[in-house]
Amino acid sequence: MWVYIEDFKNHIGETVTLKGWVFNKRSSGKIHFLQLRDGTGTTQGILEKVKVEESVFEKAKELRIESSVEVEGVIREDSRSKGGYELEVTGLKILQIPSEEYPIAKKDHGTEFLMEQRHLWLRSSKQYHIMKVRNEIIRATRAFYDNQGFTLIDTPIFTGAIGEGAGNLFQLDYFDYGKAYLTQTGQLYLEAACMSFGKVYNLGPTFRAEKSKTRRHLTEFWMNEAEVAYYDYQDNMRLQEELITYIVQNVLDHCAESLAVLERDTTKLSGIKPPFPRVSYDDAVKLLQEKGHAIQWGDDLGAEDETVISNQYDKPVMVYKYPTQVKAFYMQPDPERPEVVLCDDMLAPEGYGEIIGASERIHDYALLIKRIEENKLPLDSYDWYLDLRKYGSVPHSGFGMGIERTVCWICGIHHIREAIPFARTLYRIQP
Ligand code: 4AD
Ligand code: MG
Repeated sequence: MWVYIEDFKNHIGETVTLKGWVFNKRSSGKIHFLQLRDGTGTTQGILEKVKVEESVFEKAKELRIESSVEVEGVIREDSRSKGGYELEVTGLKILQIPSEEYPIAKKDHGTEFLMEQRHLWLRSSKQYHIMKVRNEIIRATRAFYDNQGFTLIDTPIFTGAIGEGAGNLFQLDYFDYGKAYLTQTGQLYLEAACMSFGKVYNLGPTFRAEKSKTRRHLTEFWMNEAEVAYYDYQDNMRLQEELITYIVQNVLDHCAESLAVLERDTTKLSGIKPPFPRVSYDDAVKLLQEKGHAIQWGDDLGAEDETVISNQYDKPVMVYKYPTQVKAFYMQPDPERPEVVLCDDMLAPEGYGEIIGASERIHDYALLIKRIEENKLPLDSYDWYLDLRKYGSVPHSGFGMGIERTVCWICGIHHIREAIPFARTLYRIQP
């Protein structure tokens, strides 16, 4: 019977078949110790010369790293081995022994080399566990919205209107229509949908032709966005802190082993509960100036500024009311102070930077036209978006959470390229 390693606990003493790969092997004259993985976990197979046919023991000598195998054996409890069980091997079927040495051996490879081998690197323990945490983050995100009565609205990837700004668009030819873009955000479409469904969300890939080669930027990244009719920017902040809390708690509850392999200090995650600190942009600038930063009121926060601010807290911090001039055209200016917008950026602790961008949206028709023009965006491509301000317009707010940035923070990894299965960056489109 084929049994996955994660189910070994239910089959102690039984003879089962494991279908997987050899990730390491150690041999003495009379025993082969096979380190095996099958996608659900790892275990050790003990192959003793005296317990199997001669031919089986001889065949096993040829196994090398990443051989694919079906191993028959008896599951034994073993407190010394990782996972608590081992397999006393009784039979072995070899599907393939690699004809060459596996490129990713034990030695220390540079990250560039490993990125070129990404299709194989994904098999390595650390990469495996990062993807397991990513999987949980996405599962929990969807569950959060499901539990709160949101409707999933899948937003398009080909778009005709610029969602965030003209600066970093991927353009393509779209039949007779002319230029189209790969979406930077699904927000504009979620704004349409929230006028029908009230509370909506999406989760999908977004694209930015980012020329920056930082540890935080991808050209293709996944974003979860939410949009709620009748929410103001403060309701919006409450929703964000609830979402992040839910995600972190679920990762702690369901990914203990992965976090341990990643050597994540979980004490830094277990305190992530509302309320998260809220700091105005004005106060953030004052703090930065006191600390000797060159920032002037009106400048956007740079990565170093963000780190200094987030280091004041052990929870994510929401910086709100940025200057209108550094934010996107659709953000609602503060009626009492139009030089700032009713927005917030959530900065993750430990220097991980912005994980969420959020705001209340302009719901006034004339003001939105004015802001589109001020931003020198093509008014005619926003016809439909402006319609939303003509037919029962209401205040509404939403946000976008970068999945990979969130993965980086929760896993405690340095570079965003390891937070997505196949990273797309300025210098990489392979594998
Ligand atoms: O702050 P951004 O640009 O906001 C929007 O796109 C809004 N339209 C979202 C909304 O309100 N519906 O992007 C949102 C988040 C950022 O906070 C960051 O976490 C992530 O997306 N992000 C990136 N992640 C990886 N690589 C990049 N190049 C990213 N650009 C943004
Ligand atoms: Mg942003």
